Amino acid sequence: MTTVITYGTYDLLHEGHRRLLERAKALGDKLIVGVTSDSYDRQRGKLNVHDKLLQRVANVRATGLADEIVVEEYEGQKIHDIEKYDVDIFAIGSDWRGKFDYLGDYCEVVYLERTKGISSTQLRSVEDGMLALGIIGAGRSARRMVKESWRVSGVQILGLYSRDIEQALELSQEMELAQPASSAQQIIEESDAVYIASPHGTHYEYAKEAIEAGKDVLVENPITLHGDEAVELYNLAKDRGVVLLEAAKTAYFTGFRRMVEMARSGGIGKIKAVDATFTKLIHDGREVEAPDGGALSEMGTYPLMAIFKLLGLEYESASWDVFRESESGVDTFARISLKYPHAIATATVGIGVKSEGDLVVSGTQGYLYVPAPWWLTDNFELRYEDTRRNRHFFYPFEDSGYRYELAEFVKAIRAGKLTSFKWKPEESIATVKLLEQARKSDLL
Ligand code: CTP
Repeated sequence: MTTVITYGTYDLLHEGHRRLLERAKALGDKLIVGVTSDSYDRQRGKLNVHDKLLQRVANVRATGLADEIVVEEYEGQKIHDIEKYDVDIFAIGSDWRGKFDYLGDYCEVVYLERTKGISSTQLRSVEDGMLALGIIGAGRSARRMVKESWRVSGVQILGLYSRDIEQALELSQEMELAQPASSAQQIIEESDAVYIASPHGTHYEYAKEAIEAGKDVLVENPITLHGDEAVELYNLAKDRGVVLLEAAKTAYFTGFRRMVEMARSGGIGKIKAVDATFTKLIHDGREVEAPDGGALSEMGTYPLMAIFKLLGLEYESASWDVFRESESGVDTFARISLKYPHAIATATVGIGVKSEGDLVVSGTQGYLYVPAPWWLTDNFELRYEDTRRNRHFFYPFEDSGYRYELAEFVKAIRAGKLTSFKWKPEESIATVKLLEQARKSDLL
């Protein structure tokens, strides 16, 4: 008996899939089909898959071509399956030519010609329509967002606008985008949705303009520098029925979410303390210049996010120590301390100083350790006094991680939801308010 195996996501099952399964089946007597799990797709950066795993499995089963269906959950599982099921032939579409030659050590590898003119990606964009995203800003975040948008289906970058004309031109050329827009108003008018990644102090006015024009808006963190402005923007977005999301990337990572869920469901007993540190070595540029720069506005959102997600927003008191550069007055090193009824927390941020960028969540039974850089949460450890109980969890993600916040933004738009539970308006507002208080402290 000849056993054949093949793998895929099989989203919105189409003719291309059916024909591939037919030909794979014809290679032998028994066909096993591996269907990727939702979390494996997410992990390998394949976002916006429409059908959930159970639906995709049901669709593959309904073809009547699969004798057995397995779920593909991790990198390297193909070898495991081939050995376990004593597979003779591994078959896959020609778009993967060469990529699976290494399986030749285990069985025969066959690349089958892909059916032209159809793919899940194409069906998804027909179903969803293409979202034309305009970008305001042409710095580091804008560059990352353009690159990451290529990996999120249903989004196309329309173009960008920046006050810095030269920078706008340079990035547009490098990314093969259209000529930069001549004004923020132009890019807002022409886009379906807007991503704002301009200097922090300008977020408010651009976001307001975009919301008033009825556009969905994704704004880099901190969403604004002033609490009252953040409140106003979220209210305005609600009134206008548009999505307003703060691009605080960690909040959208699976690893970060799993860590919070584990801590909050008693994995370390009661949470008694949260200590998060984020430092960066930047010596010049916008990040260290007044009026927008400083460690608090640059990185403060992240540690406060961890604290708020783990302990909630109801702290009893807050205090801070802020060191400023004598000439510019910009805060380069700061620690915010929060006291909760049954816990304490610190958020430490620094620019031009380097420290261990880890996150420790202390509990009555053990602690959670997220090693540096914790804000790119791809793994964390559960640690106990009895070290034999320790466990390590891994949740890899792709590249800079911007695609997860973009995917969340797109999903909210498609679903007609104005916000995301992953980073709620009240959490975002509480963060902005606290950062503003600390930033203003000791200043006349
Ligand atoms: N396939 C094919 N012909 C197509 C589309 C897919 O033969 N027109 C094959 C792929 O090569 C793969 C299998 O079907 O062997 C499952 O592919 P999958 O990634 O699920 O489908 P795609 O339509 O390529 O999905 P996407 O656009 O999301 O990459």
